[in-house]
Amino acid sequence: MIATQPLKERDFLCLSDYTKEELLYLLDLAAKLKSEQKQGIPHPHLAGKTLGLIFEKASTRTRVSFEVGMYQLGGSALFLSGKDLQIGRGEPVPDTARVLSRYLDGIMIRTFSHEMVEELAEYASIPIINGLTDKQHPCQVMADFQTIIEQKGKLEGLKIAYIGDGNNMAHSLMIGAAKVGMHVAVGAPEGYLPADDVTEMTRRFAAESGSEVLVTTDPYEAVVDADIIYTDVWASMGQEEEQQERVAKFAGFQVNEDLVRAAKPDYLFFHCLPAHRGEEVSAGVIDGAHSFIFDQAENRLHAQKAILVATMA
Ligand code: CP
Ligand code: NVA
Repeated sequence: MIATQPLKERDFLCLSDYTKEELLYLLDLAAKLKSEQKQGIPHPHLAGKTLGLIFEKASTRTRVSFEVGMYQLGGSALFLSGKDLQIGRGEPVPDTARVLSRYLDGIMIRTFSHEMVEELAEYASIPIINGLTDKQHPCQVMADFQTIIEQKGKLEGLKIAYIGDGNNMAHSLMIGAAKVGMHVAVGAPEGYLPADDVTEMTRRFAAESGSEVLVTTDPYEAVVDADIIYTDVWASMGQEEEQQERVAKFAGFQVNEDLVRAAKPDYLFFHCLPAHRGEEVSAGVIDGAHSFIFDQAENRLHAQKAILVATMA
């Protein structure tokens, strides 16, 4: 099963750009590629192709899973540190986009500004994949959805509760969940709620898919009857100086043994990682029987391979 034509050459910047059917198609393809990989069946759909990986922020999972994914697909990956590229010295984004389009077959970028990634995509003639911006982290959500399907057999009708900072992770989860028909609840402190435009977009997609959206400052209210509880760090990359202030503001938003009692008895605990035990999550919860964090991390590889095949093959 190679990409359906409509996804070929598409960018992957935000889940809002994809229909429910397209997202489910990618998740099916991810499951197929995972199964082939486990069985040792070669699937060199990207033989001879090269993916550039631009990083202006740190990464363990994203870098390794994209590099390994390209090798497993028969292609190659090129790590490009933002520090070493001319873009770091002020070369315009449109020029960088047009130059790199002459060498590469696709670009994955992790950076600060979401608008910069949109500009890169506007000027590049090859697919641009968002490996995390300050606003979105869509590849992570595809891995998360693959993990939910593996554990629960479906997405539609399940409730996901995100507790903590209304950040990039929260934004992509909200949009993705509403698109595929999952109920989504966010519990975040005042001042750290998700961006208004994202909440508005989520409500619009939820109205189309028939799911419910709750944004609250009460973490217990958010977690009630949740099938999945998700959290992320309180201070994201680029917010290191706010760490102490945030630890104080987020007190009461830790996912711990007390909070999870409000969820369904068979709830799944998710975290995109890296995690801080004792801050956003207790060690007992993240290392406990309900936690699927390493399946999520593994599925980055498979879900992203599906995106690469669909857009670049
Ligand atoms: N979850 C995630 O994106 O991890 P990295 O920052 O290690 O890539
Ligand atoms: N919100 C986190 C996610 C890391 C994968 C960050 O942006 O640092």
